Amino acid sequence: MTGLPPGPRLPALLQTVLWAAAPARFGKVCLRRYGPLFTTRILGFGTVVYISTPDGIRRILRDDADNFDAAAANESIRFVVGEHSLLMSDGPAHTDRRRALMRPLHGENVAAYVEVMVSIVEQEVRRWQEGATVRLLDCFQRVTIEVMIRAVFGITDSARLDRLRVLVPRLLDLNPLIILLPVMRRSFGGFGPWTAFQRILREVDEIIFAEIRERRAALAADPGRRGPDVLSHLLAGQDRVPATDREVRDHLVTLLAVGQETAATQLAWFFERVLRTPGALAQVRDAVRDEDWKVLDAAIHESIRVRPTTLDIGRIALGPWESDGYVFPAGTMFAVSLGLLHLSEDLHEDPETYSIERFHPVEPPSAHFLPFGGGNHRCLGASLAIVEMRTVISTILRHVRLGVRRAAPERVVPKGPMLVPRRGAEVVVVHNQLTAPSPGRR
Ligand code: HEM
Repeated sequence: MTGLPPGPRLPALLQTVLWAAAPARFGKVCLRRYGPLFTTRILGFGTVVYISTPDGIRRILRDDADNFDAAAANESIRFVVGEHSLLMSDGPAHTDRRRALMRPLHGENVAAYVEVMVSIVEQEVRRWQEGATVRLLDCFQRVTIEVMIRAVFGITDSARLDRLRVLVPRLLDLNPLIILLPVMRRSFGGFGPWTAFQRILREVDEIIFAEIRERRAALAADPGRRGPDVLSHLLAGQDRVPATDREVRDHLVTLLAVGQETAATQLAWFFERVLRTPGALAQVRDAVRDEDWKVLDAAIHESIRVRPTTLDIGRIALGPWESDGYVFPAGTMFAVSLGLLHLSEDLHEDPETYSIERFHPVEPPSAHFLPFGGGNHRCLGASLAIVEMRTVISTILRHVRLGVRRAAPERVVPKGPMLVPRRGAEVVVVHNQLTAPSPGRR
C-alpha cells in the first residue's frame, strides 16, 4: 500500500495544540478512530506515524532496530544534553557510551545507593507536619535531584550541592518554544527564553566541570579512593578509554535530563493511584512490612502502566520499512507509543483501572508492558528507577500515614515533557512518626 495510514485531517497547528494540551487524550481519540497505526502532523516534528501494536513496537525497537535512527529523533534536546550524550548516538558509538554507564547503574552499585536514598527521604519526611497538606510531586522533585547529585554523581561539596538544588529544576523546566522551534534558539537583545536557558546551563556546566577537575585530581592522587558513583566510574575509565571532561559532562546532564523528573513524577502518580484505590494501600503497607518486593514491584509497575510519564519513543526510518501492508519511506518519523500499548483495551482488561493483581502473582506478557522501552536504547536507569521507587515508597510508609484531601482523581496535565497530576499528588499527613512528639512528651 502506498501512502501513510489515515489520521486526523485537522490543520497541523490545531493538531499540535490538541497534542500539546492533552497528549494522552489526543492519542486515545486517534487510536479509537483510526486504529493502532495513525498519522499526525505536529509542528516542530512534522509528519509523525504513531504505532502501538506489540508486533510493530518489537520490530522497531528490537528486530529491525538497525533500520531506525534514535539519535535523530532526539535532536530537539541536543542543546541540553550535548553531542556526546547516549541520546545522540546509534550503532557502535552508542554501544561504547552505554558500556561506560552500564556498570555504575546496575547490580551492587545500585544497592550501594540505598542507604543514602533512605537518609534523603527521611530528611524530606521530617518536614511533614501532622495535619498538613503536602504536594508529593514537589517533595519527590527534591528527593530525586538529591539522589542524582549526591548518590549517582557522588558530589559532597555543600556549596555545589546548594547551587545545583536551585539550578537543576530551572534547567529542566525547558520552555517548549525552544524545544519545538529552532528559530527561538537565539537571543532577543539579551532577553528571551534562550538567553535565560543559556545562563542556567552555563552555571550548571561550570559546577559540573569544577567537580570533574577536582575528582580527576583526587583520583590521580589516590586511585583506591573511588566511590560507587557514576562520576567515579567514568573518570576511572575502567570499561573503556577514559572519557574527556566534555564527554563526562554530557553523560551526567543526560542522566539528569532523563532520570530525575521521570522518577519524581512516577512516584507522585504511585501515591495518587494507590491512595484512591480501595484496598491498594493496605496491600502495599503489608508488602513493605513483610519486605515482599514482588507485591510492591507489582504495585509500582501498575502505577507506571496506568499513568505513564513517557508516552512515546521517537524513531526515524533510515530506509523503507514495511508494516501492516504499508511501505514507509526512509525518513518517516515514528512515535512508538508505549502509552497506547499500556492502555490498549485489546491487551489489558479494563485498562483505565489501577489493579495490583494485574502484575501479581502473574505478570502480563512482556510485549504488552514495556515501561522502559526495549532493544539497544532500553532505559539504562531501569534498575536504579525501581530500586529508587521501592526505597522512597517503603521509607515513607514505614514512618507516615497519608490520606487524600480530595477523593476525586487528579487530572493528567502536561508539564514540559512530563504528564503530571494536576494538584501535584496532594496528600494529608495523618500521622508522622518522625515529627510526632514521643508518647512520653504528649
Ligand atoms: C520510572 C522512571 C523511568 C522511566 C519510566 C524511564 C523510561 C525510559 C524509556 C522508555 C527509555 C527508552 C528511550 C528510547 O528507547 O529511546 C529510557 C531511556 C533512558 N533512561 Fe530511563 N526511565 C526512568 C528512569 C530513569 C533513571 C532513574 C535513569 C538514570 C539514572 C534513566 C536513564 C535512562 C537513559 C540513560 C536512557 C537512554 C538509554 C539509551 O539511549 O541507550 N532512566 N528511559
